[in-house]
Formats: sequence, C-alpha cells, structure tokens
Amino acid sequence: MNVVICDDYQHMSQLAAGEFIECLQAKPSAVLGLATGSTPIGVYTHLIDQFKSGSISFAEATSFNLDEYIGLYRDHPQSYYYFMHQQLFNHVDLPGQRIFVPSGVENDYGQYCQWYEDRIAEAGGIDLQILGIGSDGHIAFNEPGTVLGSRTHVTELDQQTIDDNARFFASKADVPRRAITMGVATILEARKIMLLATGENKAVAIRDALEGPVGSECTASALQQHPDVTFYLDAAAASLLTKE
Ligand code: PGA
Repeated sequence: MNVVICDDYQHMSQLAAGEFIECLQAKPSAVLGLATGSTPIGVYTHLIDQFKSGSISFAEATSFNLDEYIGLYRDHPQSYYYFMHQQLFNHVDLPGQRIFVPSGVENDYGQYCQWYEDRIAEAGGIDLQILGIGSDGHIAFNEPGTVLGSRTHVTELDQQTIDDNARFFASKADVPRRAITMGVATILEARKIMLLATGENKAVAIRDALEGPVGSECTASALQQHPDVTFYLDAAAASLLTKE
C-alpha cells in the first residue's frame, strides 16, 4: 500500500482530488465510488472548482455512494443523499440517472441490497473509490466484527460511530441506529482505492489498518489485500505508524 503524508488538510484534498481528475481525464465514463463524512469535503470542493474551470466533466461518469442511514428520507439534511447533493452533485454535471446513493427507506432490504450490487456490476465495477475511516477502523459502515467477505448489507452502528456522528444531529438520540452499507468485499472490488484521514483521533485506526493483522476487528485492514491502495494522511493521523 502507498502511504502519502500530507502537509495539511488542504494538501491532502488537493492530492486526492488529483486522482479523480486523472481518472476522469483518462476515462470520461469512469465509475466513481464516493464517500460522505467531513474528510472528503475538501476533495469535492476541488472537483467543483476543476469542473467550473472546464478541466473535468462528469457528464459521462457514474457514481455509487458507500452507505446511507436507515430511516432517513432523501430530503433529511443528515441523509447522505442530501449531503452528496449539497457537497458535490448540485454543482457538477453528473446526470441524476447515474447517481446512486443507497436508499434508507426500503421495505425489502434483502432485495434492495442485491439490486445495488447488480447496478455496480452492470456499470462495469468501480474504477476509483474514495474512503474515509472511522475511529473504530470502519470503512463505509463496516463496523468491527463485520466479515471481510461481506457485500452490501444492513448493519447496526457501533456506539463509537453513533458518538462520533452525533455532532451532526441535534442530539445523540437522533442518530439512526442502522445503516445500509457496501460490504468490505464490494469495496475491495474497486480497481483503485484511496483512503483519507486527518487528526489524532484516527491514529489508532490508521495504525491498525496499515500495520495490524488483517481481520474484521478493523475492517480497513482488509485494504492490505488490495493491489492498488493509497492512504493520504496528515502527520497526526500517521503519528502511530512504526514502519517506513
Ligand atoms: P469523517 O468520517 O470523515 O467524518 O471523520 C469518516 C468515517 O466515518 O468513515
């Protein structure tokens, strides 16, 4: 795995956005795997700037988001559908019919999760996937204990994730307890993956992901099995790494 230590958040966002720009310029019909959370916002801001300056277009691209809270409708300000439109989709030319964000309000998730997997396969698989990481080592909402062979599924959120995400809600009680998420195996099928992390509260998760054993206690550790992954970190997130 490649590890890039960045000067700061701005630098990290610029480098990671560079991967998307390269990907879209080489393949305008690229299939992009997108993530929510605070971390990728800077990347999306760069992509919007590049779109506005005419350097890139999303007109032929397709996107798949990693996850969504169960129980939140698309127009809920904390839904990931809403977040992605605010942070990226409303500002670029990605066609609505090729934007896929898992739905949080389905009746039959057995069927829906398979439908989501089928859409990714039909699009030809994900070319470039961006990931954040939870302080508990999760990628998407694959919480500790999730089997590494998992595919898109519904999961219970860990208390640590509920606590971490409470900052976006009026109170902790408002944080949904369940989510739909791409599985670890779904994510690992992306042809190229980048994971972004900043800050001290990610340092343990980053150490476990890069230097720990591969296992379901830190689902990000499964990335060690992928041939093309780059971690973009700031010094604080990288502070517990011991290997060169
Ligand atoms: P964050 O979330 O970017 O808001 O820290 C990351 C995650 O939980 O995957």
